[in-house]
Amino acid sequence: MNEVVTCNMILLELFLLLLSLNGCYCDPLNYLGLSVSTDSRLDAFLPVISPDTAPQPLVPLLAPSPLSPFTNATIPKLSGVCTFNFTAVERLMSMTSTDCHEFFAPLLANVICCPQLEATLAILVGQSSKMTNVLALNGTVSKFCLSDIEHVLVGQGASVNLGKICSIHPSNLTEGSCPVTDVTEFESVVESSKLLHDCEKIDPVKECCEQVCQNAILEAATGLASKTSELLRNHSSNSLPGHLNRVSDCKNVVLRWLARKLDPLHAKEVLRGLSNCNVNKVCPLVFPEMVHVTKSCGNGINKKTECCSAMESYVSHLQKQSLITNLQALDCARTLGLKLQKLNITTDVYNLCHITLKDFSLQVTKQESGCLLPSLPSDATFDKDTGISFICDLNDNIPAPWPSSLQLPESLCNKTIRIPALPAAATNAQNGLFHGDVITNVLLIASVVIMEIL
Ligand SMILES: *[C@@H]1O[C@H](CO)[C@@H](O)[C@H](O)[C@H]1NC(C)=O
Ligand SMILES: *[C@@H]1O[C@H](CO)[C@@H](O)[C@H](O)[C@H]1NC(C)=O
Ligand SMILES: *[C@@H]1O[C@H](CO)[C@@H](O)[C@H](O)[C@H]1NC(C)=O
Ligand SMILES: *[C@@H]1O[C@H](CO)[C@@H](O)[C@H](O)[C@H]1NC(C)=O
Ligand SMILES: *[C@@H]1O[C@H](CO)[C@@H](O)[C@H](O)[C@H]1NC(C)=O
Ligand SMILES: *[C@@H]1O[C@H](CO)[C@@H](O)[C@H](O)[C@H]1NC(C)=O
Ligand SMILES: *[C@@H]1O[C@H](CO)[C@@H](O)[C@H](O)[C@H]1NC(C)=O
Repeated sequence: MNEVVTCNMILLELFLLLLSLNGCYCDPLNYLGLSVSTDSRLDAFLPVISPDTAPQPLVPLLAPSPLSPFTNATIPKLSGVCTFNFTAVERLMSMTSTDCHEFFAPLLANVICCPQLEATLAILVGQSSKMTNVLALNGTVSKFCLSDIEHVLVGQGASVNLGKICSIHPSNLTEGSCPVTDVTEFESVVESSKLLHDCEKIDPVKECCEQVCQNAILEAATGLASKTSELLRNHSSNSLPGHLNRVSDCKNVVLRWLARKLDPLHAKEVLRGLSNCNVNKVCPLVFPEMVHVTKSCGNGINKKTECCSAMESYVSHLQKQSLITNLQALDCARTLGLKLQKLNITTDVYNLCHITLKDFSLQVTKQESGCLLPSLPSDATFDKDTGISFICDLNDNIPAPWPSSLQLPESLCNKTIRIPALPAAATNAQNGLFHGDVITNVLLIASVVIMEIL
């Protein structure tokens, strides 16, 4: 765990605190292998904190100094060229800083931080279009504005490497290759009342299956993309890849228009709901070479112990990469399983070695509990007493399903689908993706313990 999040000087460990349980049918403490008050393992995990300073183990423990920037809402010195009104989106900016907190940004990048940052950019441009009537910035201004955005976020505790972590460039604030940016022209091309109707309110679960708003956005973007000026029509930009690029850039313009029409926090909900559909589709982990696993688990698996130790070691490398959602974990399990099968490992090594879904996510306690983020959009929160918190679904021992290479991945939108003991995909949604035997989630709040290395 320690090697995962080592910053230059500060070693950070995640410490899960049991905050509330949601109808768990078993003894929650045993269930988690984490004892709150009496277990010496907890103390062992917190060597630098004496019992005197921690009379109540439920009180989160953290060193205050690294987090103090959070209490500093002062807007730093800005370029003066960028006309974004940061005051008008103060709450949005502070949410984004928390989601992209300097220690967590790399771990939350794929699921929380970058989707939130991208939504923030669209909202800032959309809101500024109320003044400028344009849904994009030009190349010069975009550089200043991106730099100002970063200054504001970093001033509130966000990582200084956000641009790199989230691959955000000044060009992401421009029109790219979309030929329409003027609001009046936009509204003459796009059937804007339909667009607004389909997107002003989305159900983050249903939207991913029914794609009502996504289709409306695609339709609008396609309409805009076809407005290419006659001059350009003959150029290579009219080739198919050129066209697809334009549609993709115009989608950003459409999102900004929506962000102009909705108030910032409402727009944030919509934009995060939309990006979340893509987030859950793909396992974000990088799978390294599997020489060791192939050697130990190939040839009909003679030695179970050897194979499982190779698998364990392989999976433990995956774990260190990032926090992932429960649906992503499902995809990661499938991806790895298919890779193994390609290498002629046909035995269900997940079952053989008791690999579970949470084994694919970052392990957050000494007892190695995988912390799976919820599949619905979520945010980190900051509280000056409790530090940074985010919600994990800690479902114990849900076996990783061994994929069948003949079978396409079952669509999560298939209402009749039943994956045994799958983590509740959508804890808060009435019409969740999964029906039937869903294991109740354990709501946990991760809290930070920061220790200086001397
Ligand atoms: C808050 O930030 C401003 C500008 O970055 C800085 O000048 C000031 O010293 C900070 N205040 C505290 C209490 O850190
Ligand atoms: C920025 O927004 C705030 C709050 O909405 C408003 O009071 C202020 O006048 C705006 N500033 C500019 C320059 O538009
Ligand atoms: C970019 O936009 C700004 C403000 O809208 C304007 O002052 C500037 O001249 C523009 N720059 C270019 C290169 O178009
Ligand atoms: C930002 O722009 C770069 C290229 O300029 C692109 O690769 C990347 O996907 C864009 N990011 C977003 C979030 O649109
Ligand atoms: C487009 O290409 C056609 C034939 O390839 C040519 O006749 C026409 O002049 C070109 N139009 C422009 C605007 O370049
Ligand atoms: C898998 O087995 C088949 C048949 O036994 C063989 O042709 C193929 O080379 C093997 N592939 C790998 C990656 O070992
Ligand atoms: C949904 O799942 C059922 C049962 O597994 C299957 O028969 C059906 O073909 C699936 N439908 C779709 C659209 O995937």
